[in-house]
Amino acid sequence: MVDGDIQFAPDGRLRHCLTTEGMGGERITEILDLAESFAGVNDKTIKKVPLLRGHTVVNLFFESSTRTRSTFELAAKRLSADVLNIDVQRSATSKGESLLDTIANLQAMQCDLFVMRHPESGAANLVARHVDDDVHVINAGDGLHAHPTQALLDVFTMRRHKPDLSERSVAIVGDLRHSRVARSEIHALRALGVGEIRAIAPRTLLPVDLEGLGVRVYEDIDAGLADVDIVVMLRLQRERMEHALLPSSSEYFAGWGLTPERLARARPDAIVMHPGPTNRGVEIDSRVADGPQSVILEQVTNGIAIRMAVMALVAGTAPQREGR
Ligand code: CP
Repeated sequence: MVDGDIQFAPDGRLRHCLTTEGMGGERITEILDLAESFAGVNDKTIKKVPLLRGHTVVNLFFESSTRTRSTFELAAKRLSADVLNIDVQRSATSKGESLLDTIANLQAMQCDLFVMRHPESGAANLVARHVDDDVHVINAGDGLHAHPTQALLDVFTMRRHKPDLSERSVAIVGDLRHSRVARSEIHALRALGVGEIRAIAPRTLLPVDLEGLGVRVYEDIDAGLADVDIVVMLRLQRERMEHALLPSSSEYFAGWGLTPERLARARPDAIVMHPGPTNRGVEIDSRVADGPQSVILEQVTNGIAIRMAVMALVAGTAPQREGR
């Protein structure tokens, strides 16, 4: 089944957030615009709005996370929701209960919205197909498949720095093969009509279908970074590699790590992004990660506003846009 079949309600409303594939430029722009209004809330002393008052949000993370889990929790609390963080290691799934039985039991407690990270591709999609009509699922990363809210917060950050995205070039560098972030980001960037997307990686870390997605592929980082406006670095996902696809970390850094010298190949006002967690000295030099062109911590901050926007939209409590 295509995610889009179940992501939207029959009236076209976003009911779940499972993938950026097929989401469309208009919908993504709606999410980014709504997130701008929530970024204003997050800058105030009292960082709360009542849009999810009375709703219960469940954080269900079957994989480790710092940024996604914390920003979803903060986003839900800033929308005034009640938040339940399930400790998966201490839950009944560790005694053999199935994922769908766990969800059914949480639904029996009148939980309204599940935020789920899972190592299996398609897990959030599976849950979305089984929940009650008034329950919503947000994919916080499933296997190699998708990480839609990361892609949305990334394009939000890009748009804030480079509003004319159709004139801009984006280079995604590193382990694209195992990156759900890269996949979701490419779909979102294409939907927004970005000028150019480049993928830079050793051949063993490139997925097979990239050129079909309109991405220009480079194995040489110096050539690939020439005159780009936005550089997105990716972590080497060794935990997802079944075989040795790479030389040592130091050889990888020598070949594809982002140093100040390499960054100088990009435009002088290029921004550097990374979804985190960063591995300094493996894919990125500390002088770049902490340097003036880095917007890595802005991405984290923007994650709260984006996740507030996505939760309010799927729950149907977002303020109506003018003209809708
Ligand atoms: N970017 C990201 O998903 O980070 P976490 O694994 O810390 O959530």
